Amino acid sequence: MPATARIAVVFYSATGNLAAMAEALGRGAEEAGAEVRLRIVPELAPPQAIAANPKWQAFVDEARYETATLDDLEWANGIALGSPTRFGLPSGQLKEFLDTTGGLWFRGLLADKVGTAFTSASTGHGGLESTILAMNNVLYHWGSLVLPLGYGERHLMKESGNPYGGSFVSRSGAAPDDVALEACRLQGVRLAKFARAVATAVEA
Ligand SMILES: Cc1cc2nc3c(=O)[nH]c(=O)nc-3n(C[C@H](O)[C@H](O)[C@H](O)COP(=O)(O)O)c2cc1C
Repeated sequence: MPATARIAVVFYSATGNLAAMAEALGRGAEEAGAEVRLRIVPELAPPQAIAANPKWQAFVDEARYETATLDDLEWANGIALGSPTRFGLPSGQLKEFLDTTGGLWFRGLLADKVGTAFTSASTGHGGLESTILAMNNVLYHWGSLVLPLGYGERHLMKESGNPYGGSFVSRSGAAPDDVALEACRLQGVRLAKFARAVATAVEA
């Protein structure tokens, strides 16, 4: 009997771009029959830093996502990690959460899952791939199977064009466009499909 795909979309977002992408990815996974938990990691920046950026403050005030917990990672058989690029790396907020997974890792509870990553940067050469690859490093250590977005769908070959994972170039503060959101949706469909297949094999 095939397993159910259980997808945790764990992300950080300061000004909403990653949140919109996480929602699109979660939608794709749901369309593919998965149970989905959309979870934001805790904000760690000081209130003064947040208040200095009206978009950041508005997101913190208005965002209504449940906070990521270790139980979400243990529950999932497919995990999507999302973070904006921060100097070519994932945000400290996401990293801080990932650094609390040592106990689960030690007990082997993060192995044999399928993992994938998505990001946004303000410029095309500003570190999209390096940020995704850095998130993927964590998946390797967990013993997860790293799932790239690839070029399997025509949309990915012709439009979004990043086989590493869903990506958006935000330039002067733009919100994710339909091309980026569709890439994330397709990443969610793909994650659900492979999480189900791997979980079915692992549980057999
Ligand atoms: C401290 C900081 C560092 C950043 N570093 C980069 C970077 O290295 N390259 C880049 O292109 N954009 C960089 N950005 C821009 C963000 O990655 C980009 O605006 C992203 O779309 C924000 O996503 P969010 O709305 O989910 O927070 C940086 C932004 C901040 C605040």
